Amino acid sequence: MLNGDDNMDFMSRRSIRKYKNMPVEKEIIDELLKVAIIAPTGHNARACEFIVFENEKEVKKLIGIKKAGANFLETAQAGIAVVVNCDKAGTWIEDGSVAAYTIQLKAHEMGLGSCWLQLRDRFSPNDEPSDELFAKIVELPENYRVLCFIALGYADEEKAEYTDKDINLSKVHYNSF
Ligand SMILES: Cc1cc2nc3c(=O)[nH]c(=O)nc-3n(C[C@H](O)[C@H](O)[C@H](O)COP(=O)(O)O)c2cc1C
Repeated sequence: MLNGDDNMDFMSRRSIRKYKNMPVEKEIIDELLKVAIIAPTGHNARACEFIVFENEKEVKKLIGIKKAGANFLETAQAGIAVVVNCDKAGTWIEDGSVAAYTIQLKAHEMGLGSCWLQLRDRFSPNDEPSDELFAKIVELPENYRVLCFIALGYADEEKAEYTDKDINLSKVHYNSF
């Protein structure tokens, strides 16, 4: 039977792009990693791995990696990059995306804000591929690719929750398009 009261609060999850100057506890990061590690993967390949950026100073190494949509790196207090061994998983984009969003949902549940930093098919101000720059920064082995970086921190901005008005049911088709 449906019991909406037990659901995680999906309506209040928003991308947070401004964070308080407050470190993210290691215990919280550990909880995020646990759910990411058990997230579903194609063929149960389990090819995702995670690079933890433990504090503000580490996150700042990524500033300049991407020409737009990365301002939140200035205040993010931690982050988790999702990298995938592409030799092991044909579904590396799907696997990595599932893990990344699982991290975001768990972060929200634990009172943390997060934002996805797209690195694949994105470029630095000098037009270098953002994923290649990332690979150099973290010394990623050649057969691995980065899917994204999830920035983390305690929110220092108010974002409106989603409401029933945002739920556009015209997107739903039953039994055929
Ligand atoms: C695949 C993907 C890539 C994204 N890349 C970025 C990004 O590089 N920079 C950014 O500020 N937000 C990024 N976002 C966050 C989206 O902009 C955000 O989810 C969307 O605007 C909806 O807002 P909400 O998360 O608050 O519901 C990304 C989200 C996804 C799913």
